[in-house]
Amino acid sequence: MQSSILILAAGLGTRMKSKKPKVLQKICKKSMILYILEKAFKISDDVSVVLSYEKELIEKEILDHFPKTKILEQDLNKFPGTAGALKNYKPQAKQTLILCGDMPLIKEQSLKKLIDTNYDFNVAIFNAKDPKNYGRVILKEDSLEKIVEFKDASEEERNVSLCNAGVYAINSDLLMQILPLIDNKNEAKEYYLTDAIKLAREKGVLIHPVFVDEFEFMGVNDKFELSKAEELMQDELKKYWMKQGVIFHLPHTIYIDPDVCFEGECEIYENVRIEGKSLIVNSIIKSSCVIEESEVFNSDIGPLAHLRPKNIIKNSHIGNFVECKNAKLNKIKAGHLSYLGDCEIDEGTNIGCGVITCNYDGIKKHKSIIGKNVFIGSNSELIAPVNIEDDVIIAAGSCVDKKVEKGALFINRATSKIIKDYFYKKFQ
Ligand code: UD1
Ligand code: CA
Repeated sequence: MQSSILILAAGLGTRMKSKKPKVLQKICKKSMILYILEKAFKISDDVSVVLSYEKELIEKEILDHFPKTKILEQDLNKFPGTAGALKNYKPQAKQTLILCGDMPLIKEQSLKKLIDTNYDFNVAIFNAKDPKNYGRVILKEDSLEKIVEFKDASEEERNVSLCNAGVYAINSDLLMQILPLIDNKNEAKEYYLTDAIKLAREKGVLIHPVFVDEFEFMGVNDKFELSKAEELMQDELKKYWMKQGVIFHLPHTIYIDPDVCFEGECEIYENVRIEGKSLIVNSIIKSSCVIEESEVFNSDIGPLAHLRPKNIIKNSHIGNFVECKNAKLNKIKAGHLSYLGDCEIDEGTNIGCGVITCNYDGIKKHKSIIGKNVFIGSNSELIAPVNIEDDVIIAAGSCVDKKVEKGALFINRATSKIIKDYFYKKFQ
């Protein structure tokens, strides 16, 4: 193993203006810290995270997903700042890669570029269009001279657009020598890791700047940056799927989770949201559908349909205002305004407008099993548990509360009555 990895995540994250710690803020429904951990474990198996604020909460989230992570604690009162975070750290490998918990967009490839052992001190830098509060990088020929924190920078230094990404790959022995020399004599009275550069230079070490992408290495400090990071992640994801052959209409209006998968030829209309481990195969998802954790094969869904979790829908037409949950549907049509929950419906069956599976009795959920070639008339209620066998006709407006055998007609409605001239008798 070439590098030990340390992820800094002990800061208060005050700019988020939230009780929830910064690194647990979510991007595409996943805590920010998990993105960088995933990349870290691809490169090293000595991965540590420094925590302090809401340590237990963050530790749980980390260990639930990456149980091999080593957790360290920073004393923010005694040793505040990014160098204070390294106080109790002992790397195993010859090189230490330091990352921040608030950088969810970094790619594995870029980290590999940084752990270049030809140099004792690599610093990731980028040219920013809007350098905001990033630490400014002062270069001297090919080497990096120093990093000045925005708060401490002069007017001239603030005009520099070269920024410190906050990611460093340092020879571990060198790091251990320098750390005790860092002081807190600055505007924020914090121990700045960025001061390690100046100190290493004083030891004659050449600081190697590694140019990286500004957006990939963005630090997410507030809710605006959180939304930007999510947007960038969405752009990446949709670009990937479009390259795989998926059609997205007005892609900037579409949201997909990182775990969503497409196969074959799919077409996704505007304003669609697809979440969780959904799988869409050779299907059309029309405008304004919401799909959660469901599988859709050779079907057309929507517009305005809601697939809640655990549906498996094959060769079917699901129209507008149809809600499905835990429904196994095969070759069916449900054109409009239905609730199909906890059910299995087999091929050739037509679900009329307004059909409802009454799956909940107030305590438990029950199943509706519906066979092949069933015609369910509009506005029928199926009181689960219920079983409707093949080739059945359910008359419109029926309340199905018992098993219906193969080939039967089921009808239960109040008999209709017409009382002639009733209106005139009542009101005159
Ligand atoms: C830091 C850099 C800045 C760089 C920017 C890149 C320093 C002093 N500044 O600024 O040069 O341009 O990142 O995004 O390093 N943290 C701790 N303990 C602390 C303070 C912070 O673990 O005492 C952690 C935070 O949780 C965070 C990371 O370190 O994950 C960076 O801290 P943050 O406050 O976001 O630093 P920036 O002001 O963004
Ligand atoms: Ca930051």
